[in-house]
Amino acid sequence: MLLHVADDGMGMTAADAARVFTRFFRSPAVREGSIPGAGLGLSITKAIVERHGGSISCSSRPGRGSTFTVELPAEAGPPAF
Ligand SMILES: Nc1ncnc2c1ncn2[C@@H]1O[C@H](COP(=O)(O)OP(=O)(O)OP(=O)(O)O)[C@@H](O)[C@H]1O
Ligand SMILES: [Mg+2]
Repeated sequence: MLLHVADDGMGMTAADAARVFTRFFRSPAVREGSIPGAGLGLSITKAIVERHGGSISCSSRPGRGSTFTVELPAEAGPPAF
């Protein structure tokens, strides 16, 4: 199953998009813009998706928006925990 979540917001550089799943990462643009957050949401999301046997990715363009894609197996294997 493929799930896409897209926005037309501020977007990110490719370098930032590569780091969004790292715990506590917050892009310079977000920090300088005083946008609140802990930098944990996407790393937690990634952990949950991977424990369901899936994967998550992000593609983004500065000033254009971002798309997050979650891929999950149609039939789940045995639980990883
Ligand atoms: N849709 C998006 N558009 C632009 N930047 C994003 C987007 N989603 C995430 N980011 C960038 O990735 C960083 C990490 O996102 P993440 O959701 O893990 O943490 P957060 O939103 O800062 O805090 P929280 O722990 O409350 O979710 C954000 O701080 C931001 O820099
Ligand atoms: Mg978040």
